[in-house]
Amino acid sequence: MAKKILVSGVKPTGRPHLGNYFGALKQFVDLQNEYDSRIFVANLHALTSVTDKSELEKNTKDLVLDYLGIGLDPKRATIYLQSDVPHVTELAWIFECITTVPYLERAHAFKDAETKNKEINAGVFNYPLLMSADILVHDADVVPVGKDQKQHLEISRDTGEKFNRLFGETFKLPEPLILEDVATVPGTDGQKMSKSYGNIIPLFATDKEIEESVMSIVTDSSAGVPTNVYAIHSLIRDKESLDKLYEENRGKYKDLKEALIQDLKSFIGPMRERRKEWEESGDKVRDIVVEAGHKMRQVVHSKMMEVRKRTGLIHHE
Ligand code: AMP
Ligand code: TRP
Repeated sequence: MAKKILVSGVKPTGRPHLGNYFGALKQFVDLQNEYDSRIFVANLHALTSVTDKSELEKNTKDLVLDYLGIGLDPKRATIYLQSDVPHVTELAWIFECITTVPYLERAHAFKDAETKNKEINAGVFNYPLLMSADILVHDADVVPVGKDQKQHLEISRDTGEKFNRLFGETFKLPEPLILEDVATVPGTDGQKMSKSYGNIIPLFATDKEIEESVMSIVTDSSAGVPTNVYAIHSLIRDKESLDKLYEENRGKYKDLKEALIQDLKSFIGPMRERRKEWEESGDKVRDIVVEAGHKMRQVVHSKMMEVRKRTGLIHHE
């Protein structure tokens, strides 16, 4: 039996951190054997905020290496660039034509930008429809994403449903796979780990960065247990041995931080090495991505032909 289809993407906007990994990326690796996985670099979405060519190029290359570094296996998962499948922009346009403005105005990301009084480009406004196209064009069964993407997935389902209603059954409605039980990963200051707060531990941190960031963790404590250190530690060590460690070292914040540093080094080290190997593998990575783009264009072609037929965009067979 053919495997079910999994689709997901990440915007290439800089170095991932532990929050991104445990909140979203890890699922891709965990699920790659079970599903026909299609994981892309959302470079068209990144254009809504990045207008520096070399920055976008660099971030795109980096994200491909990050995917490989966390352990996505290009023999199992297809790793491609969103812009290599331009059909999605055509499909997004069609979706724009069947979606009302008030509906899109209810999107959180748009509302946030509006309250911050940002100058909002049309790409930001239409963002959820391009995302819908990314997913629906594959007839995806599942879409693993972080919690913050929940509404975008609802929009994708609504959009697929609306198209099906107007033009006939065409798209499969995807199921979100959201790690509800992953609590928000705290940063070194106890707030949500986020690039914009300057409180991150990079996913591919060097040993020195691991040491420095752990030493900078704010140690507010409860009954001798430094809560932030514990919360980060709990991501990479099982609860039983963790509780034993913190029980035995109650109040010894420096020792507990040392233990976290050691565990982070063992956790991050192999991923960092794997990423480096790929980085040094010559043209291999480029070839993987080019090949994947080619394959994905072929895969979505027939769906787009069906969409064109159903909407009346062709007059020949
Ligand atoms: P961002 O870098 O904020 O665009 O987030 C990319 C993905 O990582 C999203 O799907 C988020 O849900 C997830 N993520 C980001 N920061 C955290 C965090 N501190 N804890 C858990 N998940 C996070
Ligand atoms: N909006 C997602 C994010 O910011 C990225 C994304 C674009 C995506 N298209 C997608 C995720 C399709 C899943 C499926 O993280």
